[in-house]
Amino acid sequence: MLVRWIALGALAGLVGGLAIEVLVLRADDVAPSPVRRRLRGWTVVCLCMLALTSVADLVLRARTLAGGDLAQSVRAVPLVLSRTHFGTIWSARSLALVASLSTATIGTRRARVVALALAGAIALTTALSGHAADWGDVTPSVLLDWIHVLAASLWIGGVVALALVAFGPGSALAPSSVTHICARFSRLAGWSLAAVVLTGVYNAWVQLPDVAALRDTPYGRVLLAKLALVVVLVLLGGTNRYALLPRLTGLPARGLVARGVRRCRLALFGPARVSPSRLVTVVACEAALGAAVLGLTAVLGETTPARHAGHVAHVADVNGGRDPIRATMEQLHEAGGVPRGWVFRLPSGNPRRGRDVFVRLECFRCHRLRGESYPPPSGAGPELTGIGGHHPRSYIAESILDPNAVIIEGPGYTGPDGRSTMPDYRDVLSVADLLDLVAYLETQGGVHRHRP
Ligand code: HEC
Repeated sequence: MLVRWIALGALAGLVGGLAIEVLVLRADDVAPSPVRRRLRGWTVVCLCMLALTSVADLVLRARTLAGGDLAQSVRAVPLVLSRTHFGTIWSARSLALVASLSTATIGTRRARVVALALAGAIALTTALSGHAADWGDVTPSVLLDWIHVLAASLWIGGVVALALVAFGPGSALAPSSVTHICARFSRLAGWSLAAVVLTGVYNAWVQLPDVAALRDTPYGRVLLAKLALVVVLVLLGGTNRYALLPRLTGLPARGLVARGVRRCRLALFGPARVSPSRLVTVVACEAALGAAVLGLTAVLGETTPARHAGHVAHVADVNGGRDPIRATMEQLHEAGGVPRGWVFRLPSGNPRRGRDVFVRLECFRCHRLRGESYPPPSGAGPELTGIGGHHPRSYIAESILDPNAVIIEGPGYTGPDGRSTMPDYRDVLSVADLLDLVAYLETQGGVHRHRP
């Protein structure tokens, strides 16, 4: 969670810092070059943090796959990189990071624009490794999550970069420049906010089954806390934009919102003296709040979305396409122990995670799967290509749980004792692993979702 938080912060800092340099600073600001130099230093720091968190992330992932053993984890790193979805995304992210670092010190405008585009690519890898990619890589939810990550990074990272770098201790910016930079950034932040809110609403709609989940699930509660912080952040930004800036620039903001905010402020605080330093203080508060919002986002990333929490109930009716059977114990006993027409149905799993389990347990050592890029098998075992089209779900599950229940005849398939040579996995497979593995094998050769 900490790694994720630092990574989100560094990404926001990178996008925000570059956006300020490219989109907000103008040549006619007083003394822009020291600020530019500081911003460049800032982006290099952010890039290094991103690189460090990426390495940490890879090590953690390898450890999870290897089941916590250190020596095994080291051995698992190449496997994670070459065979898992996470590994592909990780490699792409590393390439983008290296490219960004090589442009980081070049000060020309074109180089900065390229750096901003690369930061966008890094943001895409963030979206691709989050919950939004659970349905696949090229989907509307990934696109919208990408926009969410980018806009939020621009907004929060921009505020942080302004507070720490442009206006931070030792900055030589003239008060009038501070005002103008804030005015320009404020406009950019307004657009980002609109994008953040719209895409955020979509994300919440996708990840939460209903409004009650906001209150009843851990994911929902963290989301509510995050929303509360965002509202405070928006209020602070609004104060800057509609109350402080117009008086500093001498251009009164027009419009209903502006007048409303001004009235509220007057009513609450009275006619306070405004100065650019006050603006800087508000920006610093916003930056601190922004960091807290990113922290909660990191928690959300590690929390199972409510749609999964509701998954069990959901599967019960997907599975076999009907509602749960309800019966009293007496009815069950009378019917001979099970409801009439009952068969054992295996709940559905997640094929994408199942592929990771397949890799982790190295099932490819004995089973060939055409269409996948595993190394050729070295041990004996039947080819699993098309298995989903040949066997029902429960049969596949049984083959893994108890290889000796049905023994396929083939060269080397049985040992001298006449039993299957397939290893026993009962101590290393969790129930979720098994379901995911079965779901993955089912996708091989046609999906048979509703077969028991
Ligand atoms: C050491 C070699 C070996 C490894 C490793 C291995 N298997 Fe097997 N597997 C076999 C053999 C041999 C058979 C055929 C004999 C039998 O039915 O048990 C088999 C049979 C199967 C079958 C039934 C195939 C069919 O068409 O009926 C499935 C499914 C299967 N394995 C899945 C897996 C999965 C999933 C893994 C990884 C968790 C795995 N195997 C790891 C050797 C292996």
